Amino acid sequence: MANSFTRMVSGRNTAVVLASIGAGTLASGYLLSDATAAAERSRLYPPSADFPDLRKHNNCMASALTPTIYARLRDKVTPQNWTLDQCIQTGVDNPGHPFIKTVGMVAGDEESYEVFAELFDPVIKDRHNGYDPRTMKHPTDLDASKIQSGMFDERYVLSSRVRTGRSIRGLSLPPACTRSERREVERVVVTALSGLKGELSGRYYSLGEMSDREQQQLIDEHFLFDKPVSPLLTAAGMARDWPDARGIWHNNEKNFLIWINEEDHTRIISMEKGGNMKRVFDRFCKGLKQVEQLIQERGWEFMWNDRLGYILTCPSNLGTGLRAGVHIRLPYLSRDPRFKKILDNLRLQKRGTGGVDTAATGDTFDISNLDRLGKSEVELVQLVIDGVNYLIECEKRLERGQDIKIPSPISQFRK
Ligand SMILES: *[C@@H]1O[C@H](CO)[C@@H](O)[C@H](O)[C@H]1NC(C)=O
Repeated sequence: MANSFTRMVSGRNTAVVLASIGAGTLASGYLLSDATAAAERSRLYPPSADFPDLRKHNNCMASALTPTIYARLRDKVTPQNWTLDQCIQTGVDNPGHPFIKTVGMVAGDEESYEVFAELFDPVIKDRHNGYDPRTMKHPTDLDASKIQSGMFDERYVLSSRVRTGRSIRGLSLPPACTRSERREVERVVVTALSGLKGELSGRYYSLGEMSDREQQQLIDEHFLFDKPVSPLLTAAGMARDWPDARGIWHNNEKNFLIWINEEDHTRIISMEKGGNMKRVFDRFCKGLKQVEQLIQERGWEFMWNDRLGYILTCPSNLGTGLRAGVHIRLPYLSRDPRFKKILDNLRLQKRGTGGVDTAATGDTFDISNLDRLGKSEVELVQLVIDGVNYLIECEKRLERGQDIKIPSPISQFRK
């Protein structure tokens, strides 16, 4: 486990470098003896007196947290002094969601996933359909040349999009960061982005400083993100100091977009109208690699390890953090009772075109990969391409009055 910290030595933050030297003892004595004043105070009472009332809860954290685990983790802190109680507060305050089982916890920093692994690991396993971070390795592959086909029939596919997130190693994540850390994320990323050239060159719009005209333009193009209002996010501390150090960068072509300091340090999006998923993923990989190189030249790097892949705020996004999706018109197939089973077997998920919580309306759907962790970026995008092509085939058969077949289930993990 300590191995995942060795990459940090090349990071710039002194506190983190020190932490990495102490990593051998990170999860045991070192941190306990260095506990915060808050942790000292809470020790006047035993952990059992602090155990949250989770009886009405339906989230992954509440299912996994036992009094024994809580007792072992309550007084531990990460090198940035983040605690278990801070990780789980959002899940304690939000017992559940009527339709989806939420995760119920967030990370405050990269080390949260190691120091509180006894709780994070079962939550990750539950949320990621059985991926076991104790025994499994997560593959990373951003070689877009491996993609086969990837040009959809544009009578059905209206737009194509790939997104992910990346975090800057050595700086606390949005639930925990100080104002100075948040501003440092913005500075590091915007400086790197100013080095992008050619079709990727663009500019940054700070949320706090943009003109009304710029704001309206970003709204019209659906580029702008709003202040988080969902209690899941506000209870996790992600709207603090809004809009300080938040903003949007996009290239001049408006098909490569980066959000700064929303739910993650960065969200990176490649998109365009039409069905050319291969080109969208090409640009995604090329842009990501150039951004990574530009931040590395300045002594920074992304949070990553081979158990969890890219480290992001919410455990649901670990691994690739990748969501590759299309907006697709399926008037016949969506009325067929087999639609849901077909999507399940292809490991695809369906959303409304208005976002994560919206119901699908009419004939148009947002179809994307179900999994984030356990398969590489290339594998997930190929799975979406093959799956969407299968859906289009079904739609065409139904148009002609022919029958369709439910495909056999694809497995989530490599054999
Ligand atoms: C964490 O808390 C300890 C004890 O209060 C303090 O000495 C240390 O400087 C804190 N570390 C950080 C990174 O704030």
